[in-house]
Amino acid sequence: MHSIAIIGAGMMGNVHARAYKGMKKPVALWIVEYIEERARIFSERFGATITTLEEALDNRDIDIVDICTPTFTHRDLATKSFEAGKHVFCEKPVALNLADARVMKQTAEKFDKKFMVGHVVRFFHEYRRVKEISDKGDIGKIVMARLFRGGSFPAHGIDNWFSDIERSGGVFVDLSIHDFDFLKTLLGPVEEVEARSIAISADSSRRDFDHGMAILRFKSGAIAHVEGSWAEPPKMPVSFGTAYEFVGTGGMITNSYEREVTLRLQTSSNQGPNYSQENPTFSDPYAEELEAFVRSVDENTDVPVSGEDALDSLRIALAANLSARICRPVKISEVV
Ligand SMILES: NC(=O)c1ccc[n+]([C@@H]2O[C@H](COP(=O)([O-])OP(=O)(O)OC[C@H]3O[C@@H](n4cnc5c(N)ncnc54)[C@H](O)[C@@H]3O)[C@@H](O)[C@H]2O)c1
Repeated sequence: MHSIAIIGAGMMGNVHARAYKGMKKPVALWIVEYIEERARIFSERFGATITTLEEALDNRDIDIVDICTPTFTHRDLATKSFEAGKHVFCEKPVALNLADARVMKQTAEKFDKKFMVGHVVRFFHEYRRVKEISDKGDIGKIVMARLFRGGSFPAHGIDNWFSDIERSGGVFVDLSIHDFDFLKTLLGPVEEVEARSIAISADSSRRDFDHGMAILRFKSGAIAHVEGSWAEPPKMPVSFGTAYEFVGTGGMITNSYEREVTLRLQTSSNQGPNYSQENPTFSDPYAEELEAFVRSVDENTDVPVSGEDALDSLRIALAANLSARICRPVKISEVV
């Protein structure tokens, strides 16, 4: 049985613990959290043992560390965990800059430990279907894409860390990185990014508000328009949503998703038009993601989202930030 120490009992720590608890093979959970009240509630909710980072790293029973803390803490927590001989799952974005991401990846390699980063969109049913349809060639070669992800500002963050671009990376690094990562799996490497964001490109004093648009040019010749938003009003009945359109040489796939709404997938392809509502069984993408990680540990196989994958996705997001700052297109090769 695996013993897993989750670091951080905030939003994602709770999501991960719920996923672990639903797994077929039972796991023992531990929680490392500064805020005593949060640690206590988490412990009661999930039957997790409260511990400190030092104790968790010294504890030989604990073989996996799952990092669910704000992004600016990822590098130190991950490297300490590898040095203590633990496998590490780390929430996305892997880090705030490429140097930190490289240190994390290299430390995992040095200590021969599994290292996976939480690019969970790859595990969402509606995105998996796009990959399957694309791989089968049902809509020909995808040449254009438009993706939206967003809602209201993530005000739940401890000490409002999302509002500080030095600690969260901003809307491209924290949010749109999901879409950058998925697009890379579908369309291959990105060559150039042109982007603007309210927080970076416009003269705005509001820290808890941003909206970004990025145009990605892929080496394949495809282009994608990615929009990420932290600009919708708070406390709306539906506070988060995603949407996409993928246009191929032989058809199109569209989907718009808001919480609690059945997945609707529309495709027009070489095989003719198709409308489907494809969400009959509930699947938790976070559970699938974490199960895939645990399986890689058990079977000593490659993780589905490696440190290198996460570093590449971060590079696209950093190119978007740079482009938004200097207001011109940025080659991926400029971000080192
Ligand atoms: N994959 C996704 O869908 C998704 C969604 C939201 C956030 N995230 C990512 O997950 C990470 C965590 O985000 P969140 O929204 O859960 O943050 P949060 O602010 O809700 O929670 C973070 C928790 O970590 C604790 N913490 C911070 N430093 C710590 C330390 N050194 N030791 C112990 N506890 C510590 C804080 O006290 C807090 O309880 C971020 O990297 C974020 O970008 C991913």
